[in-house]
Amino acid sequence: MSLTSFSCAPTAGTTDASGCTPKKITIQTLAEKKQLRQPISCLTAYDYATARVVDEAGIDLILVGDSLAMVMQGHDSTLSITMDEMLLYTRGVRRAVKRALLVADMPYGSYHTTEAEAVANAVRFMKEAGAEAVKIEGGIRRAPLVERLVQAEIPVLGHIGLTPQSVHQMGGYKVQGRTAAAVEALVSDALALEHAGAFGIVLEGIPREVARQITERLGIPTIGIGAGPDCDGQVLVVHDLAGMTFAPPAKFVRRYVALGDMLREAVTAYRQDVEARNFPSDAESYHLPAAVRDEIENANEAAFSRWPRRHA
Ligand code: KIV
Repeated sequence: MSLTSFSCAPTAGTTDASGCTPKKITIQTLAEKKQLRQPISCLTAYDYATARVVDEAGIDLILVGDSLAMVMQGHDSTLSITMDEMLLYTRGVRRAVKRALLVADMPYGSYHTTEAEAVANAVRFMKEAGAEAVKIEGGIRRAPLVERLVQAEIPVLGHIGLTPQSVHQMGGYKVQGRTAAAVEALVSDALALEHAGAFGIVLEGIPREVARQITERLGIPTIGIGAGPDCDGQVLVVHDLAGMTFAPPAKFVRRYVALGDMLREAVTAYRQDVEARNFPSDAESYHLPAAVRDEIENANEAAFSRWPRRHA
């Protein structure tokens, strides 16, 4: 059993099979994991029920990603989601998560105007939604903001490579870092974020070789998505993992369960049962106590005898 994963301190909460209480994951735990070369697991979650399952499954970092605009709300990009919406979803996840580090994604526009507004929005995630850290997209140009957020006691997760909030700047969702100059720029971005005080960096949609180089150069953990297996951790969008997305999945997605198909089958079976009057059964119905039932039947009989049926 590793020091970073479990403690047998008698604190409240769920216990594992050996009776130990899973230890709360912090940004320090993630730093330790990098040092000990223990992989970091990360998944998105956007609602209470899913977040409970993800947390109970022992995932280290739960991200309320702005990808929810696409997978939960059906938008074509992440750009439209607002601060208020992100806060609402983060609050639901907060109520579920006991062990994982809870990170909220700052939506497009919430940190792109003034530094003061960015800090105020990040503070809202911490105070109003119970986030333990925020994630922002962008490299060197975000370094001053990262520094400012860290000064305000807000842990920051960086995000470079394919940054979905820059979809129009990038000309689409394209793998980044494919030329020598682009690789150099990405390495500089990563180093600038580390220097500014980010506790980790998401590397999205970049070649495996580039992700490995960045991971080896940094003292803070890298969390990859479409960045190959050499990052310190991996993140997926939970709907991709669960088969709850409807477009063909990206190359890096591994579907662990076809939940969408399973749910469709279950819903179809339910509809058929309703239409065939097979649902609910008598056993699935509430019943009156026998004495009340007899009383009502007698009362009905008396009423019927006073009011004979008009139609046969
Ligand atoms: O919004 C999101 O879900 C993300 C992850 C894919 C890293 O940014």
